[in-house]
Amino acid sequence: MCQILGATLAVLVVLEGAFTVLGARQHIEERLIGWQGEQYSPFDQPVDSDVGDGSLWSADETARSAWIQTISWRPRAFIYHNFLSDAEVRHIIDLARGQMKRSQVVGSKEEGVVDDVRTSYGTFLKRNQDPVIAAVEKRLALWSALPVSHQEDMQVLRYGPTNKYGPHIDGLGRVATVLMYLVEPDHGGETAFVNSVWSHPELAGQAERANMSKCARGHVAYKPKRGDALLFFDTKPDYVSTDESSMHTGCPVVEGVKWNAVKWLHGTPFRPEDYEKALKEPYVPLPDPGVCTNLQDMCDTWAKQGECKNNPGYMVGDSDGMGNCRLACNDCEPCQEGDMACYERNRSSGGYLNLDESELKGV
Ligand SMILES: *[C@@H]1O[C@H](CO)[C@@H](O)[C@H](O)[C@H]1NC(C)=O
Ligand SMILES: *[C@@H]1O[C@H](CO)[C@@H](O)[C@H](O)[C@H]1NC(C)=O
Repeated sequence: MCQILGATLAVLVVLEGAFTVLGARQHIEERLIGWQGEQYSPFDQPVDSDVGDGSLWSADETARSAWIQTISWRPRAFIYHNFLSDAEVRHIIDLARGQMKRSQVVGSKEEGVVDDVRTSYGTFLKRNQDPVIAAVEKRLALWSALPVSHQEDMQVLRYGPTNKYGPHIDGLGRVATVLMYLVEPDHGGETAFVNSVWSHPELAGQAERANMSKCARGHVAYKPKRGDALLFFDTKPDYVSTDESSMHTGCPVVEGVKWNAVKWLHGTPFRPEDYEKALKEPYVPLPDPGVCTNLQDMCDTWAKQGECKNNPGYMVGDSDGMGNCRLACNDCEPCQEGDMACYERNRSSGGYLNLDESELKGV
């Protein structure tokens, strides 16, 4: 008798736990009936993150209702409103911020014109890097009908005024592109399709009232909104032929700063060995670019042999990442413990962003 009662109680406790998580999921499923694959079990993920509770959908209180809108059929382009919760946006920025590296400089280094606002910065987050990233990747897979193995690593980008990408097609074997918006600029920074047509005339009217920048006006264009995601296909439905109507422009930010996260999706597995490794081995965090150090024992010897000049990418670093021998190459300075100004100089000299929290607008 006692045993039966004990078992019943245990079942009740388990059910209660399940309903707390399911409550948040049902909220979304009501709007997206039949949306989630039948295979997924939200309970088989480890629970070890400040945001991710192991479920596919964020259950935090900043999650807003999600809905999908088709904005164009040429190219096939869709907005997933509130794809990310504020907590997920914050988490992505926190993972990326320490490694955000300058990708483009306005003015030359000699003149000392390295302006954090007018420069673009970026970094990559690995597939399956942590449970929050893994959940976002699974949601993207369900939405795009392309598995996580076909996704590239997530690129996080920050643009200030004047950064712009001219009209281009993504190409390189990519079949679809997803842009997730993390921080909204005050003006500009839209994604505009220069050869496209709105799926419905009503959308053209809405766009006209949205005060877009000059670059975006008159085109199918999306004005960044925190948490939203834009998915568009770079190929025709055969997943091979280029869809010329996917030609798009990243409009310049006119005021403020824009952050977004990009996922490119392929028609076949992307670097499958890397993905296998990411599933099996825990993620190893990258070294802190603010700490001026040599990452290899041979650094001093190599520096004496002139490698800092001959092999700068490896020794000092380049747009792909941090150098291995920054201390030996005098690319940064040793400083007193706790000297934050020195830490920031260590970062700046390597091209890394010193983030001003206020630009995140309270995320
Ligand atoms: C549109 O944006 C510009 C630039 O931020 C601003 O000066 C202008 O007041 C805005 N217009 C409207 C109608 O909101
Ligand atoms: C900057 O680099 C030095 C190593 O030379 C390191 O000791 C220091 O901790 C860094 N600055 C800070 C404030 O961490």
